[in-house]
Amino acid sequence: MIAPLLFLAGVAAAAVVDLESRQSASQITTVDLSVNWGTPVRRILYGVPNIKNQIPSSFYTGMGFNYLSAGAAQFVNATGWIFGGYTGRFQDVLSNFQTARQFNAQFILKMSDLWGTDGTQGSGGVYPGANGDFTEYNAYLTQLVSDLKANGMTSNIKLLIWNEPDLTTFWNAPQSQYFATWNHAVQFLRANLPGVPIAGPSFAGMPSSSNTWWTGFLSTVKAAGTEPDVYTWHLEGSSTDPNNDLQNSQPAMVSLLNSFGLPIPEFIIDEYANVNEQNPASAAWWIARFERFNMSGLRGNWLSGANLQDFLAGLLWKSGSTYFANGEWQVYNYYATSMTGFRVATTGSTDRLMDNFAVVGTNIVRILVGGRLVTGTYELQIKNLSALGLATSGSISVTTRQFSFSGTEGQEGAPTNLGVVVHTYSGNVLSFPIFQTDTVTTWAFEFSF
Ligand SMILES: *[C@@H]1O[C@H](CO)[C@@H](O)[C@H](O)[C@H]1NC(C)=O
Ligand SMILES: *[C@@H]1O[C@H](CO)[C@@H](O)[C@H](O)[C@H]1NC(C)=O
Ligand SMILES: *[C@@H]1O[C@H](CO)[C@@H](O)[C@H](O)[C@H]1NC(C)=O
Repeated sequence: MIAPLLFLAGVAAAAVVDLESRQSASQITTVDLSVNWGTPVRRILYGVPNIKNQIPSSFYTGMGFNYLSAGAAQFVNATGWIFGGYTGRFQDVLSNFQTARQFNAQFILKMSDLWGTDGTQGSGGVYPGANGDFTEYNAYLTQLVSDLKANGMTSNIKLLIWNEPDLTTFWNAPQSQYFATWNHAVQFLRANLPGVPIAGPSFAGMPSSSNTWWTGFLSTVKAAGTEPDVYTWHLEGSSTDPNNDLQNSQPAMVSLLNSFGLPIPEFIIDEYANVNEQNPASAAWWIARFERFNMSGLRGNWLSGANLQDFLAGLLWKSGSTYFANGEWQVYNYYATSMTGFRVATTGSTDRLMDNFAVVGTNIVRILVGGRLVTGTYELQIKNLSALGLATSGSISVTTRQFSFSGTEGQEGAPTNLGVVVHTYSGNVLSFPIFQTDTVTTWAFEFSF
């Protein structure tokens, strides 16, 4: 990885001024120290081993593990309900649920994985409600309700009816049959597990008035009174698609619900970031967006087979049976353990590709910047320094920490301290450039007050 020039010793202040004058508005990400956004949200993950305590607990606590989604997808030792019973898979889900409880994490149960439609079902896939017949699905739901009750799994849990039904990989039956299945499942679960929240629809496609999965779903739930308690969807598409971004997708969801006259409950992105975005820079970019919208997000898991349930969705790797952290885990570690205090208002660059998350701790400001697979020169603009009791002009010593990345399987230690640069400022605003010379390395800036 290439270090950003500015933070190496000996760069003249004149060069900084020259760069600033060349920044365009689309390249500026800002912090406003005068606007307190309260306590950070911090929501993360998916992908823990079948066997409890297989990964040392420091890897969970160190990255702020607090949300887990699982359903025993692709669990190699046991298949789902439609292939002769889900006993082995249910034991696996129970183990994952207990891991979540061990760390006070919330749990989302992907019910369709227990059913057996986890992407590996192939032509043997059976889908509930064919020809209006729910006999087998009722047997499954009855067993599931009984097992959830028997194992204390009726709190700190959300029931996700079907994962990505808008992809034939997971639902290879008519769309109308999915809508009928949704209604059937919600009515059954609300009658038999009252108070346990329902999550969905977890479409791969983003909310839009031109997406018939969304419009059909919303008319269905409105007519039947089967709205989910929490709306979930996935943002794992192209990094250059403006809709594949909370900044557009969250307002799109609000406006879609408004257009159907439906209430606006909690939203969760239960799978976020495409595989190329699983690196320090993109992780910071996603964190900045989730914090801005006060939303929970669970990282997508791009591993498969047994690896799907290991490695904390690709934040760790291992040598033999010894786990180690990669560079992206180090970003979550900094986020969870160093970025304490209260959030302050931030804005991303108007080209949508650079963002930051900022907190004011005890006499220290910490700002984590992140680009979405982008290179180029951006600017960080920190406004209203006087809100911290600092003078409106003067100089500030800024420490830079570099988060490097050598792939999902590459071990990285704590971020590198690149040292201190003294910046002069005036007009109550401190600005300096971010030299993004590769698409994955990212930076945290810290200063005391
Ligand atoms: C899966 O099966 C293998 C081989 O029998 C066994 O070693 C492993 O412990 C099993 N995993 C779980 C989670 O039961
Ligand atoms: C997020 O929460 C903060 C603090 O409560 C609030 O000021 C801000 O408006 C919220 N943002 C959104 C997008 O709702
Ligand atoms: C914060 O900074 C902005 C832009 O510099 C300014 O317009 C605003 O009045 C400031 N807010 C406070 C509370 O000083």
